[in-house]
Amino acid sequence: MADKICFIGAGNMAGAIIEGILSKKVCEASDIGVIDISREKCKKFAKRGINVYDTYEAAAKNSDIIFLSVKPQNYDEVLDALRGYTDGKIIVSIAAGISTKFIKSKLGKDSLVVRAMPNTPLLLGCGATALCHVAPVTDQQFDKVKRIFEAGGSVDILPEDKMNAVISVNSSSPAYVYLFAKAVIDGAVKQGIDYDTAKGLIAKTLEGSAKMIMSSGYSPDELIKMVSSPGGTTLKALEALYEHDFEGAIIDAMQRCTKRAEELGK
Ligand SMILES: NC(=O)c1ccc[n+]([C@@H]2O[C@H](COP(=O)([O-])OP(=O)(O)OC[C@H]3O[C@@H](n4cnc5c(N)ncnc54)[C@H](OP(=O)(O)O)[C@@H]3O)[C@@H](O)[C@H]2O)c1
Repeated sequence: MADKICFIGAGNMAGAIIEGILSKKVCEASDIGVIDISREKCKKFAKRGINVYDTYEAAAKNSDIIFLSVKPQNYDEVLDALRGYTDGKIIVSIAAGISTKFIKSKLGKDSLVVRAMPNTPLLLGCGATALCHVAPVTDQQFDKVKRIFEAGGSVDILPEDKMNAVISVNSSSPAYVYLFAKAVIDGAVKQGIDYDTAKGLIAKTLEGSAKMIMSSGYSPDELIKMVSSPGGTTLKALEALYEHDFEGAIIDAMQRCTKRAEELGK
């Protein structure tokens, strides 16, 4: 029999993870449940045959795996409400900054907590998730969680002390990529290319470039060189990016991201 899975907080990330579970048939919609303070958000899940719970007790008691998919600021209230109902259940935390130690301090020191850092492309089955394996979660229990995230893309395993920094690498980084895409589209429109054509061209270019990074065997530096003919157009473009310290801006963004995770952290 498949594990029953519930999501405390039925927002963007819960939706993305559920999409992966359903599309890869990890379990049936009837094995999944959600609870959210917004009844409206629950309705769209109910329409797909997903259970909607009215109480945290019902959500926890009917589930083997409980995803904590609320914002870090809501963890206190949710953990207080779940206390006493989570023995033997696998708790999956996806919140920025929240440590397994904090969750155990609220739910019990032997709680089975897996900390995960996913991203929204999970929605389309091409997510990238970082997971950390902390005792007393067994290999078998950890694998159950890993399989859920693998349904939505790739999974990498990291030690817990890297789970704040990794947010800047895979979880917040889609926003940097979208900002880059927006800038390219704006630059195209300024040069008389229509918005939709520019959007399609840059999206496909990002997809192709990602595949080159993954599969060509070349490093990013080598790939940059391959596009940069001497005396050509790319070198002129790169000149502007270096002048504006494009790389420095990205690294600064990542450091601020990690610092914010630490501030949100408990
Ligand atoms: N979005 C990302 O790209 C991303 C990536 C990796 C990890 N995460 C993590 O994933 C978690 C969820 O993020 P999200 O983007 O999915 O947020 P979200 O869309 O705001 O979803 C959270 C949901 O939980 C609801 N909620 C708040 N308090 C609740 C409570 N006490 N009981 C039940 N539901 C409650 C919220 O309702 P209200 O809106 O009414 O408050 C909202 O519907 C966060 O901890 C975040 O750090 C997000």
